[in-house]
Amino acid sequence: MAGVPVAPIDLIARALAPDAIGRTVTVRGWVVRSRSSGGILFLRMRDRSGAVQVTAKKDALGEAAFRAAEAVQIEGAIRVHGTVSEDPRAPEKREIKAIAIEVVDAGQPFPIFKDQTEEFLLDNRHLTIRSTEHVATFRVKAAVLRALRAFLERENVLEMTPPILTGNAAEGGSEAFTFDYFGRPGYLSQTAQLYLEAMLAPHERVFAVTPSFRAEKSRTPRHLTEYTHLEVELAWCDLDGLLAFTERMLVSVLHDVATTMAPELTLVGRDPAELLAITPPFPRVEYGDAVERLAGEGFPVKWGDDLGSTEERALTLTAKQPTFLLHFPTELKAFYMLRTPGDSRTVQAADVLAPEGFGEIVGASCREGDIGHLTERLQAIGANVNEYAWYFDLRRHGNVPHAGFGLGVERLVRWITRREHIRDTTPFPRTPSRHTP
Ligand code: 4AD
Ligand code: MG
Repeated sequence: MAGVPVAPIDLIARALAPDAIGRTVTVRGWVVRSRSSGGILFLRMRDRSGAVQVTAKKDALGEAAFRAAEAVQIEGAIRVHGTVSEDPRAPEKREIKAIAIEVVDAGQPFPIFKDQTEEFLLDNRHLTIRSTEHVATFRVKAAVLRALRAFLERENVLEMTPPILTGNAAEGGSEAFTFDYFGRPGYLSQTAQLYLEAMLAPHERVFAVTPSFRAEKSRTPRHLTEYTHLEVELAWCDLDGLLAFTERMLVSVLHDVATTMAPELTLVGRDPAELLAITPPFPRVEYGDAVERLAGEGFPVKWGDDLGSTEERALTLTAKQPTFLLHFPTELKAFYMLRTPGDSRTVQAADVLAPEGFGEIVGASCREGDIGHLTERLQAIGANVNEYAWYFDLRRHGNVPHAGFGLGVERLVRWITRREHIRDTTPFPRTPSRHTP
């Protein structure tokens, strides 16, 4: 293309920098909007660093180049060489006056526009994820993962790579995706916990970020069949230590993300100040007290009942801080949870419920060391105890008090970005009704 130097390429952010007025830049990216009138083309284009208005005059570009630029569709790709100038009417108060525009891919008419049905948008997820809200959300999600890893690094917790294909349905068989593993039953991992426990003896503090799978038919705004699971396992840790660690991690991540992602958060409707206002210690509520409170509010719940989305929503709707819900009935929870000393009816477990009605984002517990108790609980849920033989070995060779938790990354991001539905916290959501695109 005549007049456009091959290198260097500038980011749009460079054209938006305070000192960019009068500078000549070459940017490349995708067309967001396009309108042409009276020999002037008005474009809005974006790259990974931002978006900017571009104006091109037929006189400046020449007839043929102008027509080619005019024909570029929404989401077509272009390269623009031009001069940065002030424009008080543009959202960024800037524009690039094009000297030359190279069409990289003019594109076909973009099928996504306003007021289309949710189903249509989900069928075209590979294209809809370019929307500004999705882009902001996934930038926040990346920042959440980055902040989690930074915190864990500071706390000397080592990242592990547990398997996803497994012969143990660790959280209970009914919600595991099963498949034929060369003639034997295989499961898609629901949790990396058992493997992380095995890696404790040499490393003491370990974590993993893996996909977890739940074959739950529940169509709720907070359930995916595949989600990103951050799990931490800590040796020499009791319930108090576990709660303190979890609290510290969440506050660190929230403050980090509020600071680094303020424009993205604001775009999706979350005031970063709300996240910065979250501080330890989080209120601690006993399961028994929560049930009493709910019953008092007219919910048909009694001690021993599981608390679902509706109950958690009621418990947290007006809360501004996350809450620890503690000491659940043993029968409600997974087989590996430690019984509360002096009260075998409950376990040393805690869920973190996010405020504003969002509910459970973390499941945490101390781990049972007694093989007899583990066996009893596995039998009670109808599990094949033989599959856990290797796990019992961990209790035979230097078992120490230990505890850990699992955090649903999409649940956390849903709360942080205030998404109505968890599917909007992951680019290609997996739900009972959808595994494509
Ligand atoms: O409470 P859960 O089932 O706990 C475990 O799996 C433990 N083994 C974790 C551990 O201690 N290492 O799951 C942990 C978290 C939940 O608090 C929730 O945030 C998320 O995983 N989660 C889901 N997120 C999205 N969709 C689903 N279907 C989820 N199920 C659980
Ligand atoms: Mg749970």
